[in-house]
Amino acid sequence: MKIFNKIKPLQEYLAKQQRPIGLVPTMGALHQGHLSLIEQSKKENSISVVSIFVNPLQFNDKNDFDKYPRIIDNDLKLLEEYKCDVVLAPSVDEMYPEPPQEHYDFGYLDQTLEGAYRPGHFEGVAIVVNRLFHIVKPDRAYFGKKDFQQYVIIKELVKQQNLPIEIVAVPIVRESSGLAMSSRNLRLNEQELKVAPEIYKALIKAKSLAYKKSINEIKQIVINHLTQFPNYKIEYVEIVNEENLKPLNDWNEGKAIILIATWLGDVRLIDNMELS
Ligand code: PAJ
Repeated sequence: MKIFNKIKPLQEYLAKQQRPIGLVPTMGALHQGHLSLIEQSKKENSISVVSIFVNPLQFNDKNDFDKYPRIIDNDLKLLEEYKCDVVLAPSVDEMYPEPPQEHYDFGYLDQTLEGAYRPGHFEGVAIVVNRLFHIVKPDRAYFGKKDFQQYVIIKELVKQQNLPIEIVAVPIVRESSGLAMSSRNLRLNEQELKVAPEIYKALIKAKSLAYKKSINEIKQIVINHLTQFPNYKIEYVEIVNEENLKPLNDWNEGKAIILIATWLGDVRLIDNMELS
């Protein structure tokens, strides 16, 4: 496995490799969810590049940035075991020698859901992902449906920038309890870990009632389900059109997905489930 902290040597190395190149952008603290992206990239490309970079631009909450788990030695060991080809783990100065000036306009896609609660988050994501795209020049890039809105926005980024990159969406990987794997789960205490799978149970309930009850009824059922348990503070439960993320009023307004963001103690968790 080749590990690069600098961009130029990585580019020189990649120039000599066979295409297609797959890119898996991550912020580290790797788990099975990340590994499933890598596995898919390895299947579909001659060489796979995993980036590990905790991107300061996408954290609207400094506390969240400071507390974000950083376990690079562990990550590299895992990637080695997984026979990953190439890792890019740059410093902040290497990625951003100058403060980035670019701005993006994703319209409604960036104003709703996560965008509404985390101002500037998706612009930060777009800046780093676009930079990674220009550094690695991948043929395919892999994103998890765990961050469904991020996936939709990256597709829009590629469209706006006219980049020749296929964006591949990978299904959510869950613990056996149903809890969606996330680097932030490391910060849940024992009691919170016990009730965290209720998010999945609520989503399953929603799916079983989709098309049978109204959208508003289902949203309320999910909220009622979660708020029975201690330490939940819900930010949103929305049922939206999968493509444009507009809230659905009726089941016939397009493919439906339910998305949840909630605090559990002082950890913010997101999850979603396709209903159509
Ligand atoms: P991070 O949270 O590390 O996630 C990296 C990728 O792994 C994302 O595409 C995310 O959706 C995917 N992923 C995380 N948990 C998953 C799970 N349980 N199942 C399937 N996929 C999962 O998302 C980011 O980093 C950053 O915003 C990034 C794109 C790297 C830009 O900084």
